[in-house]
Amino acid sequence: MNRKIALITGASRGLGRSAAVHLAAQGIDIIGTYNSRADEAQALVTELQALGAKAAMLQLDVGRSENFAAFAAQVEQILGQTFERQRFDFLINNAGVGVHALFSETTPEQFDLLMNVQLKGPFFLTQQLLPLINDGGRIVNISSGLTRFSLPGYGAYAAMKGAMEVLTRYQAKELGARQIGVNVLAPGAIETDFGGGTVR
Ligand SMILES: NC(=O)c1ccc[n+]([C@@H]2O[C@H](COP(=O)([O-])OP(=O)(O)OC[C@H]3O[C@@H](n4cnc5c(N)ncnc54)[C@H](OP(=O)(O)O)[C@@H]3O)[C@@H](O)[C@H]2O)c1
Repeated sequence: MNRKIALITGASRGLGRSAAVHLAAQGIDIIGTYNSRADEAQALVTELQALGAKAAMLQLDVGRSENFAAFAAQVEQILGQTFERQRFDFLINNAGVGVHALFSETTPEQFDLLMNVQLKGPFFLTQQLLPLINDGGRIVNISSGLTRFSLPGYGAYAAMKGAMEVLTRYQAKELGARQIGVNVLAPGAIETDFGGGTVR
């Protein structure tokens, strides 16, 4: 039986990296993306291969949806070359940035950054990648506990995550026809580099 393949955005660090390592240890091959940390990405490929997985890391800025068609073409190419497959099975929309700003002080630039990376990015990236996801596959959208409890300074960030949770229900409804399950994972605070390491 074919091994399954997961595509994880923001796999170079933090939760995405951890997910890649845990999935690889369970026999799943990995296509990961990184934004700025090519060195971390290469180190991860080596670690995943040592676990017996096929692995590739591609550069992607989730905030720049105008590049998604070219990214999808790159994924298609690497699927054929490295994985000898035409499609992958699991998409994990994990890449994200944290902005800490009170509602009264949040700037349009901060709002746009969060909207582009946390909402518009996963919306149109998933749309673009749909033809490459196997029927019966899975999509996981990473949200945050901050959609359920409120801490000062996270209004814009949590609003985008809340929108992703609503979108997830619509994706599940519409993609159910292809037996693609869509779920939200909403972690609490985890010590990563997120938001400049504020959780630490
Ligand atoms: N840590 C927490 O407490 C926490 C709690 C709830 C939810 N979350 C969510 O969990 C997800 C992962 O967070 P984390 O804690 O693992 O963060 P992290 O350690 O800061 O890692 C962020 C990852 O996202 C990538 N990334 C950042 N900006 C990007 C962009 N514009 N385009 C593409 N990739 C980008 C980074 O790539 P490079 O390293 O290559 O730049 C890195 O791989 C985020 O969606 C976050 O909102 C985190």
